[in-house]
Amino acid sequence: MNIILMFPSDCRMAAKLACVCLLLVLFCLSWAKEPTCVTSASSCDECIQSGPECAWCTAPGANIRCHTVNGLRRAGCGKSYIYNPNSRVEVVKNDSSTDPADAKTLFLQPQEFSLHLRPRVSQSFPLAISMPTDQPITELTMNTSNVPAGVNITISSTMKGNRLLVQVNVEAAQCPRTSDSSNQNRTGPWSVYITFKGFPQSVKLEITLLCQCNCTGNREENSAGCSSHGALACGQCECYEHYDGQRCQMDTDSSLSRDDRFCRSDSNAPVCSDRGRCVEGFCHCDIRENPKERYSGRLCECDNFSCFYSNGRLCGGNGKCMCGRCICDDDWTGEDCSCSMETDSCLAKNQILCNGRGMCQCGRCKCEMPYVGPTCENCPLCENRCQEHTVCVECRAFGTETMKNRCDRECGYLTVTMVETKDDLPQRGDTNQFCKMRSRHDDCFFFYTLSSMPSGEQATVVRAKQCPRVVQK
Ligand SMILES: *[C@@H]1O[C@H](CO)[C@@H](O)[C@H](O)[C@H]1NC(C)=O
Ligand SMILES: *[C@@H]1O[C@H](CO)[C@@H](O)[C@H](O)[C@H]1NC(C)=O
Ligand SMILES: *[C@@H]1O[C@H](CO)[C@@H](O)[C@H](O)[C@H]1NC(C)=O
Ligand SMILES: *[C@@H]1O[C@H](CO)[C@@H](O)[C@H](O)[C@H]1NC(C)=O
Ligand SMILES: *[C@@H]1O[C@H](CO)[C@@H](O)[C@H](O)[C@H]1NC(C)=O
Ligand SMILES: *[C@@H]1O[C@H](CO)[C@@H](O)[C@H](O)[C@H]1NC(C)=O
Repeated sequence: MNIILMFPSDCRMAAKLACVCLLLVLFCLSWAKEPTCVTSASSCDECIQSGPECAWCTAPGANIRCHTVNGLRRAGCGKSYIYNPNSRVEVVKNDSSTDPADAKTLFLQPQEFSLHLRPRVSQSFPLAISMPTDQPITELTMNTSNVPAGVNITISSTMKGNRLLVQVNVEAAQCPRTSDSSNQNRTGPWSVYITFKGFPQSVKLEITLLCQCNCTGNREENSAGCSSHGALACGQCECYEHYDGQRCQMDTDSSLSRDDRFCRSDSNAPVCSDRGRCVEGFCHCDIRENPKERYSGRLCECDNFSCFYSNGRLCGGNGKCMCGRCICDDDWTGEDCSCSMETDSCLAKNQILCNGRGMCQCGRCKCEMPYVGPTCENCPLCENRCQEHTVCVECRAFGTETMKNRCDRECGYLTVTMVETKDDLPQRGDTNQFCKMRSRHDDCFFFYTLSSMPSGEQATVVRAKQCPRVVQK
């Protein structure tokens, strides 16, 4: 961003830079933990050098060539076509002919190693040195002068009896650059000797860097697989001048290939929707850097990443993006698949959807007035419910004689349970409404809870009333 401020007059450059910066940031954010493989690598060598986990697909006609092994497998590259050289340490010489009892010599094993290293992958291996008993602790030195810069060899050792156990660790930071004239060989092998002060013996390490694909040397010029207009290298066509296409089948000078009528939806529309190349009347859609993103359709007009997002995920993570539309998985709906069709979350404690007081939509209750709450269990405005049921509660609970006929006739909807004290009432909660009402017959208060059940209204009533003192006397 500082760079942009430094060149305020060059707006186009600034815009480009801003764009590049933004893309880089987005790229880094979305790939924070992803490997660094250069998916656009033009050669196998460039690919395997881009990261220790990067592999190359040598299959003819592959769309994605450079990725992790898993990435290539997902992109359809067969196992036998995946080139992914692994670091390895081999013991070349492990003689045990020297007599460990000879006090004049060191006895070291093994004597020679061959190392193949992917840059940024460290390899370690052990050496054992038997010390002549009367010798002081031997000092280890290495001559690494002919090893290219960036190859880091470290040694650590511990004594065990009269044996020195040495752990050697080797790691190359990167492949030597082609421009680095001091190293004609980019891959080695380079030899390193670990020597021991005062003794003629040494341990030899022969180091080869895995910076070149073994297919690179097998270029096939004028390959039939490249329509005889290019060289086949590592499964990929490198087209000669004037030729293009995956198999160099396209003559860039001929008028035929320029005829891109078939690659436009109408004469003013961009070729292949600006997302691909027209090859002999067929669109070859561009490959996205992110392997999760793909253009498709006859004119590359579709993609599988431009859809509604919800909760930060494409199609809410509950569907597939197809040509700009979310196709929701079962049990999900809505343009961004964020609407759940399952109703468990709407089920109230009494196993009724939204307490029978609302509709379950997108997994949430839409309550009727005046009910509120996740399952419409609350009714802050429902003071009147106590009032509404008080006559029936009192006559059913306390059996007021004068009301008997009306009670039998009108209050059958109500189920009454008696408890001794207020403490015995059901916990005041989602589905219970607590009522304290004054009796119509004596001046006492009585207490009950009301709850709506599928079978009807249920009242739990406290047997003991609370009466004014005067009456109690
Ligand atoms: C190249 O390496 C692969 C595995 O790393 C091996 O299977 C293949 O034989 C090698 N090819 C040549 C020509 O050395
Ligand atoms: C080297 O040979 C000795 C026996 O002489 C054996 O114990 C040891 O495991 C060998 N080391 C390796 C790395 O093969
Ligand atoms: C290290 O090795 C190089 C080449 O192999 C040699 O020219 C140089 O003299 C050696 N340095 C020492 C200190 O042995
Ligand atoms: C060399 O490797 C050691 C141990 O792996 C590490 O501590 C050190 O920083 C490395 N040096 C360089 C220059 O990479
Ligand atoms: C260069 O590589 C060849 C074989 O690949 C090897 O014989 C030669 O010793 C290497 N040269 C140097 C300077 O390491
Ligand atoms: C898009 O399509 C590619 C190739 O079929 C697939 O690997 C990827 O998972 C798809 N992405 C999404 C978001 O569906």
